[in-house]
Amino acid sequence: MIKVINVVGARPNFMKVAPVVEAMGRRGLEFAPLVVHTGQHYDARMSDAFFQDLGLPHPDVHLGVGSGSHAQQTAAVMQAFEPVVLGEKPDWVLVVGDVNSTLACALVSAKLGVRVAHVEAGLRSRDRTMPEEINRLLTDQLADLLLTPSKDADQNLLAEGIASERIRFVGNVMIDSLFKQLGRAQASSVREDLGLAAGADYAVVTLHRPSNVDDAGVLASILSALERIGERLPVVFPAHPRTLKNISGFGFAARLERARNLRLVEPLGYLDFLRLYSGAALVLTDSGGIQEETTALGIPCLTLRENTERPVTVELGTNQIVGTDANRIVEAATRALDATRPPGEPPRVPPLWDGHTAERILDAIKEKHEG
Ligand code: UD1
Repeated sequence: MIKVINVVGARPNFMKVAPVVEAMGRRGLEFAPLVVHTGQHYDARMSDAFFQDLGLPHPDVHLGVGSGSHAQQTAAVMQAFEPVVLGEKPDWVLVVGDVNSTLACALVSAKLGVRVAHVEAGLRSRDRTMPEEINRLLTDQLADLLLTPSKDADQNLLAEGIASERIRFVGNVMIDSLFKQLGRAQASSVREDLGLAAGADYAVVTLHRPSNVDDAGVLASILSALERIGERLPVVFPAHPRTLKNISGFGFAARLERARNLRLVEPLGYLDFLRLYSGAALVLTDSGGIQEETTALGIPCLTLRENTERPVTVELGTNQIVGTDANRIVEAATRALDATRPPGEPPRVPPLWDGHTAERILDAIKEKHEG
């Protein structure tokens, strides 16, 4: 039996860990999984809703760390996680993605001599002003097994001098959750609840990167683009707590209320959000995961950043990097909405984004464990 602590901390972790824990449950003679939640995200809408929607079991341990500066948050996770590792003595710690909890738990485990598997290894934006880029670089240095979602990630790791024996291309585990939940999401009434007319086009927006929402000028530029796009079709904007706070802090709330077609709503759960974006004519986002989910479903996506750590979504998928200039966003949105989409043509999905990545992750851990 291989005992694995699976770490979750923030919203984008839950849909990556759920398929892994489920597969470990199915292979209960080989794996003994535990789930540790660091508590980086703690609002019901940022955390509990995802456990329910994804069928993720309640965490075995909740560290209750919460928000703070990067140093405070990372250090608090480390301090709380160390005794859990010492007490549980796992064979492996599995971390996913690039949030502060990912790096904190990888660092604790590596120092205690516990092997680390990193899911979604090797992604690089080459932009070290992004906190996630620092987390990715360091987590990949520490991990014993680097499980990559796309071949460009393998190349990035090899170029950093990481031995090929540590790297395993397994595909994209988020897409396991997406394909599994797509059917269930049809039962969500979110489109009707938001008053979106059946069959009519709408756009969906998400924004939460500090570089976009902590700077009043950048946020104003993006909002003015959204107001202009709203003249053409309804724009639904489920906003992260950081974004909601800054919209009111910068005094933009009244302006958004006046924008008739721009609907600012609270963050949505996994199934409601899937139902919403899967029917959208256009998605605008600064998220990493949503670039991948729209590619898997063939929905046009504009990324409101200057770079992406997921180039495969641009090369093979539906994603375009458009930055934060209002005119550039509006022009790209107009072009995307005017383009006639060939009816019924299946989306071009990158290799191994097939819904079976969790099984390959377990196989890779087992092989490495025994090898
Ligand atoms: C984190 C991740 C980011 C990920 C994002 C997804 C890092 C460095 N960043 O960013 O990569 O894309 O999650 O959502 O780990 N807050 C709440 N309720 C919560 C959580 C946060 O109100 O449940 C507010 C707090 O004001 C907090 C702020 O959001 O200070 C930022 O939270 P934090 O976890 O530090 O980073 P995110 O911006 O959520």
